[in-house]
Amino acid sequence: MRGLFKIATAASALLATALAAPITKVRPGNGTDIIISSQNTVNATEPAPANATRPAPANATVASSTFKIAEDLAVSNGRLPLALVNNFAGAINAYVTGLDSNNQLVMLQPDGTWLYPVCDPTIGTPQPINANVAIPLGGQGSTTQVTLPAYISAARVWFAAGDLEFFTVYSTASNGPSLVEPSAVNPSDPSAAVSWGFVELTNTKDGGLYANISYVDFVGLVLGMSLLSGDGSVQSAHGLQATAVASICSLLKAQTARDGMPWTDLCQVDASGTPLRIIAPSDHVASNPDAFSDYFTDHTNEVWTYYSTNTLTIDTQAAAGKVACTVQGDQLTCAGDNRGYARPLAGDIFGCNSGPFAIEEGDNDVHRAIVPRLCAAFDRTTLLMTGGDSQPGLPSTSYYQSAPTNWYSAFIHQTEVDGKGYAFSYDDVNPDGDVNQSGVVADGDPQVLTVIVGGPLSG
Ligand SMILES: *[C@@H]1O[C@H](CO)[C@@H](O)[C@H](O)[C@H]1NC(C)=O
Ligand SMILES: *[C@@H]1O[C@H](CO)[C@@H](O)[C@H](O)[C@H]1NC(C)=O
Ligand SMILES: *[C@@H]1O[C@H](CO)[C@@H](O)[C@H](O)[C@H]1NC(C)=O
Ligand SMILES: *[C@@H]1O[C@H](CO)[C@@H](O)[C@H](O)[C@H]1NC(C)=O
Ligand SMILES: *[C@@H]1O[C@H](CO)[C@@H](O)[C@H](O)[C@H]1NC(C)=O
Ligand SMILES: *[C@@H]1O[C@H](CO)[C@@H](O)[C@H](O)[C@H]1NC(C)=O
Repeated sequence: MRGLFKIATAASALLATALAAPITKVRPGNGTDIIISSQNTVNATEPAPANATRPAPANATVASSTFKIAEDLAVSNGRLPLALVNNFAGAINAYVTGLDSNNQLVMLQPDGTWLYPVCDPTIGTPQPINANVAIPLGGQGSTTQVTLPAYISAARVWFAAGDLEFFTVYSTASNGPSLVEPSAVNPSDPSAAVSWGFVELTNTKDGGLYANISYVDFVGLVLGMSLLSGDGSVQSAHGLQATAVASICSLLKAQTARDGMPWTDLCQVDASGTPLRIIAPSDHVASNPDAFSDYFTDHTNEVWTYYSTNTLTIDTQAAAGKVACTVQGDQLTCAGDNRGYARPLAGDIFGCNSGPFAIEEGDNDVHRAIVPRLCAAFDRTTLLMTGGDSQPGLPSTSYYQSAPTNWYSAFIHQTEVDGKGYAFSYDDVNPDGDVNQSGVVADGDPQVLTVIVGGPLSG
């Protein structure tokens, strides 16, 4: 009787969850609804210059349907041509934020010069940036050319099907403004009702360009990119299919119907129920600590039992080579590692930076190499597979093949055009010689970075 009642309760709870409308409806607020975190701020280390709109040696934006690399776009002093391809059925605005080579906060203006945002030190709350920093792209099918006037770091090129709201807060550390950016994880963010996404990049004199499209925190407006390098080669990360957000929301809903876990809550919809974005389970757990709490417990216990009598070999892919790990006492302990690993909880597995996966000062190189590889193995559920006792080892076709797993990451990779783009923070862990899933483009002598908004071009 008791058992049956339990089953019935569980089934109806499952049904109730499955029938509940997906999801998290956004309620965009104003500056007072902003939640400031390290994820939505850029902090200058130098104060802004007195004259907040200095001219930069830049070309204004030029819209053209047949973009060609003009000779006058030769890269110098960090000038980087961006070709922004609008493949979205609707109007798109682009925004550029970051730090200039003096670590001062900058945003690109439509005339191709940097704006140095300002901030009133007497106001404690986020202050809206009212200057015109939206760069409208041409219509669907067109390419808009924008040139970053100088080197930039901690930068994002944002794209929005509407207007984004940026703010500053006064920072005593820099005696100047900190930028407060739209936040995907806050459903009351002032920009919450707009579909948006970004490419992250750093372009420095010494390091060259490094750009990525990341789904570590969320999936929003679909973007792809390609980089024309100095040697004429092209690197690309094609991103997600045009309908990815709606598809992933459906997949998450179906997963909740199967396992009763709050996957649907990762999906944010607008007032009419249209999916806007999907936030990562690590961010969901960060603000809902009870979510997914026991999701990995049985699996983790099985892993611990298995590796108390079997050896897990982790290839550090570095000087330390392959390292043998076994469970001793209640900790997974690896040869040459300065400390062991307790059983991770769901939040630790999704985020890879808490519990046993938090890296501390003083951790040695072996520990720093094992954390990403062990966490990746948990996210991909490969530790109990045949061959899973060698990490990283199994090919990407073996990832996410059984529950419990990181379905957010699994569904993103299913929806990626070329399987590339980080879906959790150590998604670049792969066996030597296998495809690097990271979705990064990098070059010391970048010529043009092309970003395609709204899904890959057909053909
Ligand atoms: C923000 O919105 C709240 C209502 O949600 C309102 O009371 C408040 O005055 C608004 N603040 C600003 C700065 O607009
Ligand atoms: C910027 O500074 C604020 C506090 O002023 C802090 O909350 C935030 O985490 C910092 N951002 C980054 C990226 O370090
Ligand atoms: C700031 O720079 C602009 C653009 O060069 C210039 O027109 C303006 O006079 C400058 N303002 C001050 C206060 O120097
Ligand atoms: C870009 O700037 C260079 C140098 O300032 C100038 O010679 C060239 O005509 C400009 N090109 C466009 C398309 O504005
Ligand atoms: C993406 O690029 C930015 C800027 O270079 C960097 O700060 C960030 O760590 C990168 N993210 C990943 C997941 O590699
Ligand atoms: C994958 O590529 C990224 C970006 O180039 C790099 O940081 C990372 O180390 C690579 N991973 C492996 C396992 O080679």
